[in-house]
Amino acid sequence: MSQVYKIAVVVGSLRKDSVNRKIALALATLAPSNLELKIVEIGDLPLYNEDIDKDAPPAAYTTFRQQLIASDAFLFVTPEYNRSVPGVLKNAIDVGSRPYGKSAWGGGKPAAVVSASPGAVGGFGANHNLRQSMVFLNVPCMQQPEAYMGNFGTFFDAAGTLSEQTKPFLQTFITAYAAWVEQQRTA
Ligand code: FNR
Repeated sequence: MSQVYKIAVVVGSLRKDSVNRKIALALATLAPSNLELKIVEIGDLPLYNEDIDKDAPPAAYTTFRQQLIASDAFLFVTPEYNRSVPGVLKNAIDVGSRPYGKSAWGGGKPAAVVSASPGAVGGFGANHNLRQSMVFLNVPCMQQPEAYMGNFGTFFDAAGTLSEQTKPFLQTFITAYAAWVEQQRTA
């Protein structure tokens, strides 16, 4: 059997009815069998503060870092807040990046970014702000297909079922992502 890659999925919204979370869950069900997607929760991470990240870091920091280290690749699914990354997601990126020299984001593990919003722009600002941090953290992000998913009000019906119009895009995206992860992890 070919290798199964563990994917840490980080969702940039804490909202109970988050559409981005629904997209992440839909991607998990559409993923090829060589990917195992699991959402890594970020809502209980204390705001990053170097003073509390010394000899005895908060347990939530340690758990989060261990989950990243145990994964083979990352997938971000996020809304855009004020044309940038939501604070909770930036906080998680920062927590994962420390202690200095021991980033839990690893060196060279691949990632991809999906941004989704109710507006037409599809979270382009958040998507690219996130990529900027990933450049510094040496996390190569898949270039194509890009995923700026605008007008997300039609993606799921009231029962939470993914629309047939949206499904092919997510299928194409996750299939390309699986090939990207395989290529990067075997390079
Ligand atoms: C937003 N929203 C938003 N949308 C957008 O397209 N561009 C933006 O810059 C912003 N800015 C912004 C700031 C703040 C503080 C909030 C709370 C919201 C709207 C946002 O896309 C909307 O709340 C989505 O529903 C968030 O996605 P989830 O929670 O459904 O995944």
